[in-house]
Amino acid sequence: MTNAYTWLKDAIIYQIYPQSFQDSNGDGIGDIQGIVRRLDYIKDLGADVIWLNPCFDSPFGDAGYDIRDFYKVASRYGNESDLIALFDAAHERGIRVVLDLVAGHTSMDHPWFLEEAADPHSPEANRYIWKDRNIDSEKGPTKENFLGNFFWYQPALNFGYAERTESWQDPVDAPGPMKNREELRKIMAYWFDRGCDGFRVDMAPSLIKGDSNDAPNSKSLAATQELWRENRAWLDANYPDKALIAEWSYPTRSIPAGFHLDFIMHFNAPGYHEMFFNGIGSIPDKGPCYFSRDGEGDLGVFRDEYHRQLEGTRGLGWVSLPVANHDFQRLHCGPRTNEELHCAWVFFMTQAGPPTIYYGEEIGMRYLEEAPTTEGSLLVGITAANAGTDLGERAGSRTPMQWDQTTNGGFSTAPAEDLYLMMDPDPNRPTVAEQEDDPGSLLNFVRSLIDLRKSHPALGSDGSHTILNPKDAPYPLLILRALGDERYLIALNPSQRKHSMELPLIGQFGDPLIQSGIEVSGEFDLKTITVAPFGYAILPMV
Ligand code: NOJ
Repeated sequence: MTNAYTWLKDAIIYQIYPQSFQDSNGDGIGDIQGIVRRLDYIKDLGADVIWLNPCFDSPFGDAGYDIRDFYKVASRYGNESDLIALFDAAHERGIRVVLDLVAGHTSMDHPWFLEEAADPHSPEANRYIWKDRNIDSEKGPTKENFLGNFFWYQPALNFGYAERTESWQDPVDAPGPMKNREELRKIMAYWFDRGCDGFRVDMAPSLIKGDSNDAPNSKSLAATQELWRENRAWLDANYPDKALIAEWSYPTRSIPAGFHLDFIMHFNAPGYHEMFFNGIGSIPDKGPCYFSRDGEGDLGVFRDEYHRQLEGTRGLGWVSLPVANHDFQRLHCGPRTNEELHCAWVFFMTQAGPPTIYYGEEIGMRYLEEAPTTEGSLLVGITAANAGTDLGERAGSRTPMQWDQTTNGGFSTAPAEDLYLMMDPDPNRPTVAEQEDDPGSLLNFVRSLIDLRKSHPALGSDGSHTILNPKDAPYPLLILRALGDERYLIALNPSQRKHSMELPLIGQFGDPLIQSGIEVSGEFDLKTITVAPFGYAILPMV
């Protein structure tokens, strides 16, 4: 049996936001049968793992990240048989399915919460963190009574406090926290037994409170790491081929804590926004990012952080740089053009770790600034506990998949006003159907990059990754990927000006695997590389 570390090595992960992928019953919202219908598309793209955002019963105050029943599929997506049918149909095609485990909180409508709120002084009322158990019987529980984990209305599940400062805080081994720990494994086992291949754990570092002090010599999440290590030991003993994927954004902490993979993105870890989003779209005040046409970005923050995370986790687990996700802008935002997208995709598909593709990115779907706030999508100025996660309006990244030119882009047959979110109103919006037929389309470019990655191990997850730029020369970007005797130079220019660089390498180069706008000087013994605006190349070293 292969373990998850092994099968994730070669994975291309495709993230599906179930609301917006494919509606099969004409009610305006995506569903599980719709996903089954599109599995061949995912397979043809070259992806082999699906990560599905939460699909469980919920009042949808945070788009499903507020769960009411962990053991029940939300009726708008189908039922348990549909989910099992998805696992089976995916497996038949060699695709694995990872679900989302919202481990740190529930909805206020969860029966556990309702029961405890009805009898808050009961010794059994210990699944949640009750700050003040004197609940006004008229108003019901308010944010003064309990601790919220993200939005105030997502009550934190009680995993105890590593350092306790208040009498209402439980130690980590109190009955409530122990009950919740056990329940996490029960939920995972329930879905594993039905065919699920792993979980992406929402806000994985948030479970144990009083554990997140980053001061030197502090425990810095040691208790939370211990909790996850315990889960990993359980997984290895009982479900050794299933995956644990963290939303932690700090691989040097999450991987030693037992996760097989973590993302570097918008939470905590610096680097991602500095590369792709600062100064662009909805983050105008922090620019400029590296991948912007002005070519004034800085590479240093990303380089230091990425290499630190890769080096600290080598051989233990994987680091993924996602091509956008449901919590921040799409890559196609602000003034970014198609040629800029091509250049960015070369970077993403040659990363040192399994790439994660958010649905629709492969055709260059736009971040829609005009999309209305839906199901808690607006994230501005939320509580101090979440400082640093001010993500703006997320609805613009959650609009329906654009399949073709038929009604509602082939997403749904419902009247347009009944759609979960508006379609991109641009009559020239990109679609899968139109890009399938165009050899120069982004979709076909992404497919060819995935093929290259799969057929050249040094471009894959366990090849080394070195950014060769000197500190004062950030453009063009030169990356060396190597594994054994195989070596590739990746050259990219995300800016609108031509850039040249003396190569800090000695060697000869074979024919590029792909290239656009590259000039090389010095016969076979390449000395200087010049990259036209938005040019790119993958050059084998021979
Ligand atoms: C992170 C999820 O990605 C996000 O969508 C959600 O709002 C929060 N966690 C709270 O669960």
